[in-house]
Amino acid sequence: MVSERAADVTPFLAMDVLERANELDDVIHLEVGEPDFSPPDRVVETAVESVRAGNTNYTAARGKPALRRAIAAHYAREYGVDVDPGRVVVTPGSSPGLLLAMAALVDPGDEVVLTDPHYACYPNFVRTVGGRVETVPLRPADGFRPRVPAFERAMGADTRALLLNSPANPTGAVMDGDTLADLVALAADHDATPVVDEVYHGLSYDVAEHTVLEYTDDAVVLNGFSKRFAMTGWRLGWLIVPPDLVDAVNRLAQNLLICAPNFVQDAGVAALESPPERLDAIRETYRERRDLLVEAISEWGLDPGYTPQGAYYLLADVSDLPGDAFDVADLFLEEAGVAVTPGADFGEQAADYLRLSYATDADAIHEAVDRIDAVLATVER
Ligand SMILES: Cc1ncc(COP(=O)(O)O)c(C=O)c1O
Repeated sequence: MVSERAADVTPFLAMDVLERANELDDVIHLEVGEPDFSPPDRVVETAVESVRAGNTNYTAARGKPALRRAIAAHYAREYGVDVDPGRVVVTPGSSPGLLLAMAALVDPGDEVVLTDPHYACYPNFVRTVGGRVETVPLRPADGFRPRVPAFERAMGADTRALLLNSPANPTGAVMDGDTLADLVALAADHDATPVVDEVYHGLSYDVAEHTVLEYTDDAVVLNGFSKRFAMTGWRLGWLIVPPDLVDAVNRLAQNLLICAPNFVQDAGVAALESPPERLDAIRETYRERRDLLVEAISEWGLDPGYTPQGAYYLLADVSDLPGDAFDVADLFLEEAGVAVTPGADFGEQAADYLRLSYATDADAIHEAVDRIDAVLATVER
């Protein structure tokens, strides 16, 4: 018998689309959020050297001291904030970090407030620990950026955590510092903990990024190496937690995860110490791809009404096309050989949209645009 909690877990549609796309020939993948870059060479070399040196046993659950210090130094360098390495917990990817954060904060019946649209997996983390999800709808007219009054209305006596994500998946929206500061204050008024997923930090175009740690120490930061350093399969991430949560999160990590892979942690130090110019060049490449797709989406008449400023996703509004977004995603996959994700994956507010990822090289994106052009020319509106 499957537990009620497990039965409630919804599939991750982007992964379902990937499965179907892999059955077909000659598909261009705009459905998955997997960078097409490699990690810096020094990262690979460090991992190999570390394996050869025999660093293949367990480490402390909270991570190797050198990596925790390198993570703290990253916050001083990038944002000018002082983080005690004692508050850093290294995890095998940011996803297990979110599981630890939810397990440490949420009791059965507690409420976690999150945005709609949101990263597809968030509600399932909340439900897995017995929490309840309360969503705050974001509006395309605001560029899907959070507005504080909507959060004031959503938060109540049972709210335990406020789960935010900037730069955001799937919208590409980037939260400004004032809004983040106001949401931190609102959470404090409700004795709720802000949990901020900063996994796309480093990938913002035209706007400044702010970590929640600029405004409070009483927040959980979730981050990792998957996106910024193109290290998805290496499974390495981290949490920064408030001092009063360190012990609980460490005990949960000891029990649920044991530790992140030893030699991968050494590679993480090398990643954090890699020259910033490389990331600057990658960011510029993403920006060019974004501009290319923003223009194409507008020419298709599927403009979402705002320009995404971060991550590597954008939404196309397909409400004026025949059928629903699932039908349009099917049409693009089966007729154009272009895989995209139906917005329903990311909440009701995204149901009329498709999410396109531009973590794919520009030639493939150009080809995808030509193919979609051809298919849309056959569609009656
Ligand atoms: C917003 C967001 N958070 C977390 C993750 C998970 O990343 P990781 O590979 O660090 O587990 C993803 C992956 O796509 C994501 O989009």
